[in-house]
Amino acid sequence: MKVKADNANYFGIGILQHKRGHNIGTLWRSAHILGASYIFTIGKSYKKQTSDVLKSWREIPLFHYDDFDDFYKHIPYNSQLVGVEMVPDAEYIKEYKHTPRAVYLLGAEDKGLPEKVLERCHHIVQLPGLKSLNVAVAGSIVMYDRIAKLEK
Ligand SMILES: C[S@@+](CC[C@H](N)C(=O)[O-])C[C@H]1O[C@@H](n2cnc3c(N)ncnc32)[C@H](O)[C@@H]1O
Repeated sequence: MKVKADNANYFGIGILQHKRGHNIGTLWRSAHILGASYIFTIGKSYKKQTSDVLKSWREIPLFHYDDFDDFYKHIPYNSQLVGVEMVPDAEYIKEYKHTPRAVYLLGAEDKGLPEKVLERCHHIVQLPGLKSLNVAVAGSIVMYDRIAKLEK
């Protein structure tokens, strides 16, 4: 059977320079349940957390990149890099059309995504609200939005 190229989709999600390991544990759990192919950390590596009660490390891999350049070099072929951040130029998630192959990048709990990183993203999306959400919660909402729209 022939599969149309644009029906072929997958995504990864991760955090740049996370501060709290339990957020990676929570994100990993959501990523596994909501259909991510992998998660990743950039800059700071991850130590196993109790927040990943489902032992998601058995289900999808976590990749670690030394820094943003290392991560950028290893973005999968033909994938779009999607920054998730509250910035004026960002597209509202409600109107955002997810690409078939995507890598979602979240920012650190304290500083968010730096301007230099945002400049390298193909798309930037933001979630509703005047204050920032917890990073793992923000990632989970983006993943839910993706599956809700692509499954239509
Ligand atoms: C706690 S927030 C960072 C807040 C940081 N103090 C700032 O103002 O940039 C951590 C990350 O969660 C994500 N995030 C939280 N709320 C968001 C929102 N409303 N829209 C998009 N991303 C959000 C972003 O990836 C952000 O970098």
